[in-house]
Amino acid sequence: MKGKPVIFDHPLIQHKLTFVRDKNTDTKEFRELISEIAALMCYEATRDLPLMDTEVTTPVGPAKTKILAGKKLAIVPILRAGLGMVDGILRMIPAARVGHIGLYRDHETHLPVEYYCKLPSDISERDVFVLDPMLATGGSAVDAITMIKEKGAKNIYYLCIIAAPEGLEMLGKAHPDVQVYCAALDEKLNENKYIVPGLGDAGDRIFGTK
Ligand code: PRP
Ligand code: URA
Repeated sequence: MKGKPVIFDHPLIQHKLTFVRDKNTDTKEFRELISEIAALMCYEATRDLPLMDTEVTTPVGPAKTKILAGKKLAIVPILRAGLGMVDGILRMIPAARVGHIGLYRDHETHLPVEYYCKLPSDISERDVFVLDPMLATGGSAVDAITMIKEKGAKNIYYLCIIAAPEGLEMLGKAHPDVQVYCAALDEKLNENKYIVPGLGDAGDRIFGTK
């Protein structure tokens, strides 16, 4: 069911988020934490996936049980930082297809610049989870989702770890049909369009490029 942005207040997610924010957390631990938070967010975001009845035989006898109803899923990380969330989600949904969208924010204009788009050919038949740890101005998310819709996808979810109010507003206006999940809603953007307090530059912290 789609609606207002959902903030996951699960204690494990909130605990890990503290260490992700800490500027003293090193690259290895940061990367591990982003992956773990993504896995926990995936667990929460998929709680309405349809199930169907099945039957297996346990060592004791027949058991009527449930399995996923075979819904087709795709995850689409926004490069680079979204890549940090892929492993955690694939651990939960190993059969998901993976597309990639390359966008970076121009440092002067803060506007997204597109450089790559490769999606599963049957993306229009799949539920799509777009991944990016940071929703700041919202420009990257809006452009990425527009690109995915242009390829025919209709049922899109957006998973970010930290959102700014400005980003949520922009995304909600541009794509009101997209359900947003995040782990925290922060206070604001600073003059460089970084989330305050946020966690700094997610891509640089995941890949150790600063
Ligand atoms: C970061 C982040 C988002 C974008 C968010 O990526 O991962 O994609 O900024 O900002 P926005 O909401 O204002 O568009 P960045 O441009 O730094 O690229 P990178 O992941 O390659 O480091
Ligand atoms: N991108 C980041 O990595 N961090 C921010 O705070 C904003 C955009």
